[in-house]
Amino acid sequence: MGKKVTVVGAGFYGSTTAQRLAEYDIFETVVLTDIVEGKPEGLALDLNQSRPIEGFETKVVGATTGPNGEGYEAIEGSDVVVITAGLPRKPGMSRMDLLGVNAKIVRQVAENVAKYAPNAVVIVVSNPLDEMTALAQIATQFPKNRVLGQAGMLDSARFTNNVAEELKVPVSSVKTLTLGSHGDTMVPVPSKSTVNGKPVAELLPADKVEELVTRTRNGGAEVVALLKTGSAYYAPSAAAARMARAVAEDSGAVMPVCAWVDGEYGISGVYLGVEAEIGAQGVKRVVETDLTESELAGLKEAAEAVRAKQADVASL
Ligand SMILES: NC(=O)c1ccc[n+]([C@@H]2O[C@H](COP(=O)([O-])OP(=O)(O)OC[C@H]3O[C@@H](n4cnc5c(N)ncnc54)[C@H](O)[C@@H]3O)[C@@H](O)[C@H]2O)c1
Repeated sequence: MGKKVTVVGAGFYGSTTAQRLAEYDIFETVVLTDIVEGKPEGLALDLNQSRPIEGFETKVVGATTGPNGEGYEAIEGSDVVVITAGLPRKPGMSRMDLLGVNAKIVRQVAENVAKYAPNAVVIVVSNPLDEMTALAQIATQFPKNRVLGQAGMLDSARFTNNVAEELKVPVSSVKTLTLGSHGDTMVPVPSKSTVNGKPVAELLPADKVEELVTRTRNGGAEVVALLKTGSAYYAPSAAAARMARAVAEDSGAVMPVCAWVDGEYGISGVYLGVEAEIGAQGVKRVVETDLTESELAGLKEAAEAVRAKQADVASL
């Protein structure tokens, strides 16, 4: 049978994710849901009308959902569910300012996902990301490997773009890595960042690398400040769609994601940005990479910062 993917939340992030997933043309169905009556149905119709032009057969189905789980039948049998429901940041806001309001939304969504799509892999994107990923696992009670969050792919893509622009080289020649949290304790990893295999540290002075690291950390805020209303969605949706595709294709691709860490890097019992092999069951395994002493210290600091907040979400 063909694969089915659901995107919960038909805002900017959700609708662009649905579009990317549909245009891959590997799914039988892409379901798009929202609580705003008619919005997901309208976007689904619009996307379906693009099929003859873009040349894909995937059917997009829109469904309005209600506060008591009305409409969630539409997600039944989903192999993957991407949760984008929730408020985005406004200029000057930190992701953590969204905690209370988005926790209510994500909990309600996750409980319905558990009920209607009990075998799905859940990919969380709602902010604050690390906390909402932990909350989705608690609310679904799914095995921890079947709940993961999107952050590292986006943050690495931003880092890569920053390096490519600085050195005026094609983005395809640049590899970067970003671990840690999707927030203040993000850990861009210069020692794993290369241009045509050459470490960026050999190509740029240390203060320039640090500048690019800082710009990466503030990558989301930079977009929010320019847009003035809403946050980024083209790069974020590209990242979430690739993760959903890796699950659907059971590809085993290694990607930086927010995953449950249980002993790797000497860190245990927390959702944290690490590299992981992605497949049909979500995270197949966390992949450890060599880090410098200061990068490892940064990752441990991120783990403790995130752990403190994740402990609070159970009560939200
Ligand atoms: N993880 C990341 O890297 C990353 C990047 C960008 C944005 N985000 C986050 O993604 C989320 C969505 O961003 P956006 O730009 O699409 O915002 P948006 O305001 O455009 O869309 C959010 C949508 O969620 C819907 N919604 C609210 N409650 C719902 C519920 N209970 N069920 C279903 N739908 C519901 C809203 O009606 C709205 O259409 C935000 O929390 C944002 O901070 C995360």
